[in-house]
Amino acid sequence: MTKTLTIRRPDDWHLHLRDGAMLRAVLPETTAHFARAIIMPNLFPPVVTFAQAQDYHARILAALPEGAEFTPLMALYLTEDTDPDDVAAAHASGLVHAVKLYPAGATTNSASGVANFDTIRAVLERMAEIGLPLCVHGEVTDDDIDIFDREAVFIDRVLDPIRQATPGLRVVMEHITTRNAVDYATAQDDTLGATITTHHLVINRNHILAGGIKPHYYCLPVAKREEHRLALRAAATSGDARFFLGTDSAPHTDANKLLPCGCAGCFTATNTMSILAHVFEEEQALERLEGFASLNGPAFYRLPVNETRLTLTKTPATFPSHIETEDGPVTVFDPGFVPNWTVV
Ligand code: NCD
Ligand code: ZN
Repeated sequence: MTKTLTIRRPDDWHLHLRDGAMLRAVLPETTAHFARAIIMPNLFPPVVTFAQAQDYHARILAALPEGAEFTPLMALYLTEDTDPDDVAAAHASGLVHAVKLYPAGATTNSASGVANFDTIRAVLERMAEIGLPLCVHGEVTDDDIDIFDREAVFIDRVLDPIRQATPGLRVVMEHITTRNAVDYATAQDDTLGATITTHHLVINRNHILAGGIKPHYYCLPVAKREEHRLALRAAATSGDARFFLGTDSAPHTDANKLLPCGCAGCFTATNTMSILAHVFEEEQALERLEGFASLNGPAFYRLPVNETRLTLTKTPATFPSHIETEDGPVTVFDPGFVPNWTVV
């Protein structure tokens, strides 16, 4: 008999849906498997205010495929001018579940992010008071810091000082990519959580750079050495509730990926659950997939777990190499192996 695995329906705690034609094309890929997602606000222009989040929320609902049951959990883009009262009102409405901190210049559409961290003190204090999580893109942007060291340096220079200065602030270290981040997260209390992407469990920096440059594996934070990938796999499959799934599925058209200065992002919404089941089975931790994908995230965000279920069967998964959008094709992340599990 074919082996099956049934888990509570997963959520994606870090997702890029974009807008317009791209939103319409990628949203069904997520709603096919996921019940909820934290929607990243790095549109152009960014989703800064509660009013902008309401509008974006309405556009996502309007783009939902027929019959889809999916709840977008909105996040506000933190700027140096963000108003603490607006953030509090957004949170109180039940629509906004996080505020996202992008260091200015760290990644796609982060130009309006924060350069001077002293300017966001009042917002962070209000967030600590009301229990609203801060999602952090944890990379410094200094030219003199090597891109492979930017996460580790951020933890020491920015993240830890912010947390020390704002007791009680609930923080999610987004898309962690290093053993340093795993070690830091593991040593903290329950005000700290960390998301891990699917692709960072699969690729290391050789996948991007060895044997020819592979733009479709280029994302931020950039994948690191193999020892870091192994630390991420150990953390994700450990059962430690601090670690949960945030795919960081980040669609860009092939035309925008394959440029002299190509965009950062891996598009994994389509095959994430198959790849994760494969990885967790390899790590002999299939029974912990539900914790990582469906339980730990809701616990951190203080939301109920989903009542519906997702079932996978142990059959080799097949996926399209890309999805079509009105803006052009978007390549689906290629894990380099055929995942052993298929979502039914
Ligand atoms: C993201 C995007 O394209 O918006 N890209 C990425 O490589 N992850 C931005 C981000 O999350 O850093
Ligand atoms: Zn992201």
